[in-house]
Amino acid sequence: MTQTLLLENDAKLASLYSLNFQIYAGTDVIWKKNLEDAIKVLKVLPQLSLIVSRTKIEGKKSALLLYEYVRKNELQIPFIVLGEDNSLKDNAVVLSEDVELKILIQNVAKMLGVTPKKMVEKIIPDFVPIPIKHFLFINETICDLYVKLSEIPENFHFVKRIPAGEIFSKEFIKRYIRKGLQQLHILKCDRIKFINSFSYQLIETLEDDKLSMKDRISSTEVAFETVAGLFQQNKVNEENMELAQAGLKSVMTIVSQSGNLFNNLLTNLIDLKTSYLFKHIVIINFLGIRVIKKMHWEKEEHLIKFSFACFFHDIFLENERQAKVKTPEELDLLTDREERDITYEHAWTASQLALKTREIPLEVENIIMQHHGQKNGIGFLPQLTPDHLRDDLSPFSYIFIACEAYGDIIFSEGKNKNDYDMVINKLPEIFKHEKFEKILYCFKDMN
Ligand SMILES: [Fe+2]
Ligand SMILES: [Fe+2]
Repeated sequence: MTQTLLLENDAKLASLYSLNFQIYAGTDVIWKKNLEDAIKVLKVLPQLSLIVSRTKIEGKKSALLLYEYVRKNELQIPFIVLGEDNSLKDNAVVLSEDVELKILIQNVAKMLGVTPKKMVEKIIPDFVPIPIKHFLFINETICDLYVKLSEIPENFHFVKRIPAGEIFSKEFIKRYIRKGLQQLHILKCDRIKFINSFSYQLIETLEDDKLSMKDRISSTEVAFETVAGLFQQNKVNEENMELAQAGLKSVMTIVSQSGNLFNNLLTNLIDLKTSYLFKHIVIINFLGIRVIKKMHWEKEEHLIKFSFACFFHDIFLENERQAKVKTPEELDLLTDREERDITYEHAWTASQLALKTREIPLEVENIIMQHHGQKNGIGFLPQLTPDHLRDDLSPFSYIFIACEAYGDIIFSEGKNKNDYDMVINKLPEIFKHEKFEKILYCFKDMN
């Protein structure tokens, strides 16, 4: 830890400065109120990291005298002076006598080599950001909501905008979105009660039969993202599973009410700018349910199991970059070690969650574990060909793998139906394993 000598004769200011230097710049502060005591400190600690000194104390030019001591003893300590002193301008950072606290902290942090990013990290933990789109589907908040105001990243503060208990409209939130606001913030200590109240209201929205298809897609995406965020932090409990089940049921509603893939579902998913993670869940579900029905395996329990597998298969992946990895080569492109590990074993970790969660039907864990073609849920296959893909997976796993791969092709082609006949004809080149033959046939006149 760095050490900073503070020469300040006002005890209240000294206490305020010490606390803030410590919190935001992570430095240990040694406070002295007169020049003599400050020099005594320098004699014992000549390796100090920084000196912050008032220009004049009790009529003495304390900063100048302290600086002369430093120079005479050839000490290499940077200097911040509080109060105008022209004689020091070339050798120290000179700030005005009543400098704003945040400006002073920024200068202290800068001279101690604390980056703005590190300062932000130190400040942020008191508040938790919540994506603003989450508030489109609730109309009341159980705790105060704040807006983060900043001109530059390291210089910001939080202002309360919606007090606890206030009812707000969708239009009110949309106005903030139009202004470019991406997040609202809550106090960290309010997090649990916020999530509980938020989940309760979101479940009510998802269970509303009159919800329009566009609102259903957007609110289900919010439910999925909330559940994924909670599960990734190991917060798997009854309340969070309730939200997961409401989200899953809503995906099934989307799939069953979107009669046509290209004109309805795909257009909505693309127009609403849904994330890859969410949109690929919906498309795999849509394609899979139709394949299962065409194969006459449409027992209700099969359809439900397949839908569960869709919702949870990538639940531990954090972003599109990870979710788009389908081969060992693509995995190698992830340079961050932690990100690679999460992606490498995500099928296995999600299957373990399915296995130990009472609400998730048995056998869902198998489809999840095998959704990249590996029987143990670890890693990826180079290709979907007989020399790589085994033939003893669950029949639903082959459907899942084919639907995910076909979904990726659909996303890369966009929403122009005319290009699909060509794509469909190319599918046998990609899916060479005999287990895919019937499934490809089912894709043929699906639109
Ligand atoms: Fe996936
Ligand atoms: Fe996956």
